[in-house]
Amino acid sequence: MTQNSQPTLADLIDLRLNRRGLLGGAAALAVASPFAAAAQEAGPSTLRFKELAHTYDPQQHVADGYDMQVLIRWGDPVVAGAPAFDPANQTAAAQEKQFGYNNDFLGLHPLPLGSRTSDRFLLVVNHEYTNTELMFPNLGSEGASKAQAEIELAAHGGAVVEIVREGGQWQVVPDSKYARRLSGNTPMQISGPAAGHEKMKTSVDPTGRTVLGMFNNCAGGSTPWGTWLTCEENFDAYFNGDAAKHPDAAVLKEYGFSRSRYTWSKHFDRFSFDKEPNEPNRFGWVVEIDPYEPGSPPVKRTALGRFKHEGSTYALAKDGRVVFYSGDDERGEYVYKFVTSRPWNADDRAANRDLLDEGVLYVARFADDGKVEWLPLVHGQGPLTADNGFANQGDVVIKARLAANLLKPTPMDRPEDIETNPVNGRVYVVLTNNTNRTPDQVDKANPRAANGHGHIIEIAPADGDHAATGGTWSIFLLAGKPGQDAGARYHRATTNDGWLSCPDNVAFDSKGRMWIATDGAPTAAGIADGVYATDTVGLGRALTRCFYQAPAGAEVCGPIFAPDDQSFFIAIQHPGEDRGSTFEKPATRWPDFKDGMPPRPSVVAITKKGGGAIGS
Ligand code: FEO
Ligand code: CA
Ligand code: CA
Repeated sequence: MTQNSQPTLADLIDLRLNRRGLLGGAAALAVASPFAAAAQEAGPSTLRFKELAHTYDPQQHVADGYDMQVLIRWGDPVVAGAPAFDPANQTAAAQEKQFGYNNDFLGLHPLPLGSRTSDRFLLVVNHEYTNTELMFPNLGSEGASKAQAEIELAAHGGAVVEIVREGGQWQVVPDSKYARRLSGNTPMQISGPAAGHEKMKTSVDPTGRTVLGMFNNCAGGSTPWGTWLTCEENFDAYFNGDAAKHPDAAVLKEYGFSRSRYTWSKHFDRFSFDKEPNEPNRFGWVVEIDPYEPGSPPVKRTALGRFKHEGSTYALAKDGRVVFYSGDDERGEYVYKFVTSRPWNADDRAANRDLLDEGVLYVARFADDGKVEWLPLVHGQGPLTADNGFANQGDVVIKARLAANLLKPTPMDRPEDIETNPVNGRVYVVLTNNTNRTPDQVDKANPRAANGHGHIIEIAPADGDHAATGGTWSIFLLAGKPGQDAGARYHRATTNDGWLSCPDNVAFDSKGRMWIATDGAPTAAGIADGVYATDTVGLGRALTRCFYQAPAGAEVCGPIFAPDDQSFFIAIQHPGEDRGSTFEKPATRWPDFKDGMPPRPSVVAITKKGGGAIGS
């Protein structure tokens, strides 16, 4: 592929000839006319929407012919008895019942369970982090007070809301029996190899088997049995202390502990690792939650390893075992997968309850010859022995990054989402950027030094089996502006509006086309974050087209389609997060645009005007 950014007339003629060649004879003549009209807009892409221009302004934008609906916002009522949002008089008690801050991952769990409905879901939402400066009026130079820190704790975690489509419009079902808020205070269980481990015990929990809350839940996933996986990412951000004096100083260093951006350690002892040295070990996990059982305890599934999980998405192995892919989102970190020991049971939901507690965690090596190799992180195998600091599997999962280092996997350019295309079975690894990579660290899978714009890798598992320890990989696209950013590589017909920067999370529609949400484009490229759609196979492969642009300061998270492709949900996170932007003077007041109302992270539902499949 070349780096030309505009489709030429020759490209379009080529395309028409190719299509005629494929279809042949009279059939070709029958479709040539409507196709030619569309081709002027979409080129070889199968995506039939009018491409949006790049923007950066206080509003959100979508391609012509589509509607955007704000479904739920920070502060909106979630559980029964929640008060209306009042930004000038917030309380932790109210926030525990209201929609939390910085919505990230979105999951759709059909109601009833097991149905193929596209009209009624339990929408599960991560609340990743808080923007103190945008949440509170009159914030002092000391940062959040104790009362404000308590609100922040309550604004973290997640939410379950019931949503329904009626007359083409989506709405939240008030007082649903499934409605639930999870927060930094919610009691959770710890299971798997780290449960009860010495390094998991604290003064509040001498058993090492229970913990309060989950933090920095970025992306996530689901399971074939209908539970929600929500993933703790930058958990180091909440803790303070003298890392060099910690008994496990090397572990804290490996996980990047430094000064916290939050005041929590000043107000609550557990966020000081000088006072509670093991508390940080209780974060950085994949948490399993059953949205259909509102009273069920969330469980931290430690067999999947402790690192800065972006998400955890599944694919089925040929024998019915379940494979979960997960990126460790930091510059130079690794790609992992977990393979359950047993197949899942489609006939007995309860039989899957602890399936995630037994299996093998692997880390990926992307060789320059195009082969990918999955290396097992199993205590007693290879270097993972007591001599090297791994006395049991608990040690391996708690210190997963250090264990992985010993197996020499490939350091990647910030692994974010990893998703399997339901149509072609290939696995897409989204790498958001890595400006730290030096020229001597370049390899075939991370081919650019100072990679400011990221790229996407495509994996074909050996024999199409996700449990295989081998496979092949290739580069799907290299982001950035063609002709300007060195090495940017897409389909040659990608337009001046269609290139993207900092891919983060992706979704597939039922045709197997990829919809890419970005995070970081304002800083890296001077354009809004957005959503870009592309074919993954055929003549339009890697021809990205701009579909949506976010309001100033926001990233786009959680893209997901309803099964009928007629509704596309996105989470608009940290609107107004911009230099010098504050509660009093935010960069945008999206979505309400009312004086005194700060910007509010919100879930947006996109539908086609008049109905129909999105992008068709
Ligand atoms: Fe929270 Fe990896 O982005
Ligand atoms: Ca993300
Ligand atoms: Ca992100």
